[in-house]
Amino acid sequence: MSLFATKSVERIMAESEDKGHGLKRTLTGLQLVLLGIGAIIGAGIFTLTGIAASQHAGPAVVYSFILAAIGCAFAGLCYSEFSTMIPIAGSAYTYAYATLGEILAWIIGWALVLEYAVGAATVSVGWAATLDNILRDVGIELPRSLVASPFDPTPGSLNLVAVVILCLISAILIVGIQESAKFNSIIVFVKVTVVVLFIVLGYSYINQSNYTPFVPENTTGEFGKFGWTGVLAAAGQIFFAYVGFDAVSTAAQEAKNPKRDMPIGIVGSLAICTVLYILYALVLTGVVNYKDLNVAAPLVVAVDRMQEIKWIGKLMKLGSLAGLTSVMLVMLLGQSRVFYSMSRDGLLPKLFSDLHPRYFTPYRSNLLLMFFVSGLAAFTPISRLGSLTSIGTLFAFVLVCIGIIIMRKKEPNLQRPFKTPLVPLVPILGVIANFALMYGLDHITWYAFFIWMGVGLVIYFVYSRSHSYLGKAS
Ligand code: ALA
Repeated sequence: MSLFATKSVERIMAESEDKGHGLKRTLTGLQLVLLGIGAIIGAGIFTLTGIAASQHAGPAVVYSFILAAIGCAFAGLCYSEFSTMIPIAGSAYTYAYATLGEILAWIIGWALVLEYAVGAATVSVGWAATLDNILRDVGIELPRSLVASPFDPTPGSLNLVAVVILCLISAILIVGIQESAKFNSIIVFVKVTVVVLFIVLGYSYINQSNYTPFVPENTTGEFGKFGWTGVLAAAGQIFFAYVGFDAVSTAAQEAKNPKRDMPIGIVGSLAICTVLYILYALVLTGVVNYKDLNVAAPLVVAVDRMQEIKWIGKLMKLGSLAGLTSVMLVMLLGQSRVFYSMSRDGLLPKLFSDLHPRYFTPYRSNLLLMFFVSGLAAFTPISRLGSLTSIGTLFAFVLVCIGIIIMRKKEPNLQRPFKTPLVPLVPILGVIANFALMYGLDHITWYAFFIWMGVGLVIYFVYSRSHSYLGKAS
């Protein structure tokens, strides 16, 4: 069979309707929006914004948020078209199977592991650091050896706190999609409240002098050190803050009405978070001078400057801890659904699509992921994990945008409940914008990406190719 054999949309849809073995369709439009916000707001704004402003862009990090949002919006529109046309749990992996062929589908599926599994590991390490910080505030010292990996600047034995939270979240995911969605909705309420409170309360503490200059000058001539190249570099860094809206598309097979609700979930969550992020960045860099923002918890530093309401800082820390929890939840949910689809196509062993007899969730996959992601979180420092998540996500975005153009040519008559506007302009701009963000990532991330992809190709040729149902049928 050709490496580029594609699977027809009719066949993909027919297989998904194989009753009795399927995921349950229970999610509403609102729950999908909340799922998106649950995955989006997290370590990105609670941590990276301060560093991006202090090292790269100054107050112009606001422009970086706008730039990254534009790249995401192009990709989000393409995801929306695909997810209404092929509402399947495999998301970008399935879209690639229908357009670009099996090997590229595999490559995308493998890249999505970087987004979802490595993303969840990244956030769990951030979660452990936040909990450690909160407990210190109340005089409880966790043993350092249990909140740091052996490779951290101050080494520990293993990050047990990250492992524990990943196990708890995996348990919720196994119990059910509705339970997961309800847990997510509560958390989203808490974290959106934190961000909105910060914006509203912080507004009156803005010191206009912190905005001058808005785009600090690049005095060294070095790329990415302030000026407009700094805005670009910061955009690459804070892209991580937007990662996750596409995870909504992995819930397509569990949505009550995917044809109507997928674009609402994807574009809606992205739009809400973009507005919140821009206002948040404006308030943050207005309250604290960007030079003082090189910290892991910029929000708390800013709240500390708000004399009368300092106490709210503690609540906000708790809110951000909760916020990180739902990011891991949705990321792990997305990962298990992509594996579910890959396994249903024969590219991964059957255990990845075995559903629990009572809960109808891919519990074996959830358990395996729990071990893999916990291992990663226990022994890897956070610094590398974040950019690896971004490169995997951006790569998937680029291929999804290309897929839209191919699909319009190949299957012009397929029913498209949502149509990406201005095709091929929007997908082409999506490819350019997301590739530019990829290009801005550092060399080590690129090397790690190629090694990961190399490992994926070995697995494909050793196992997946010979087990593929599409291959066997042809
Ligand atoms: N967007 C998610 C975060 O910022 C991954 O944590």
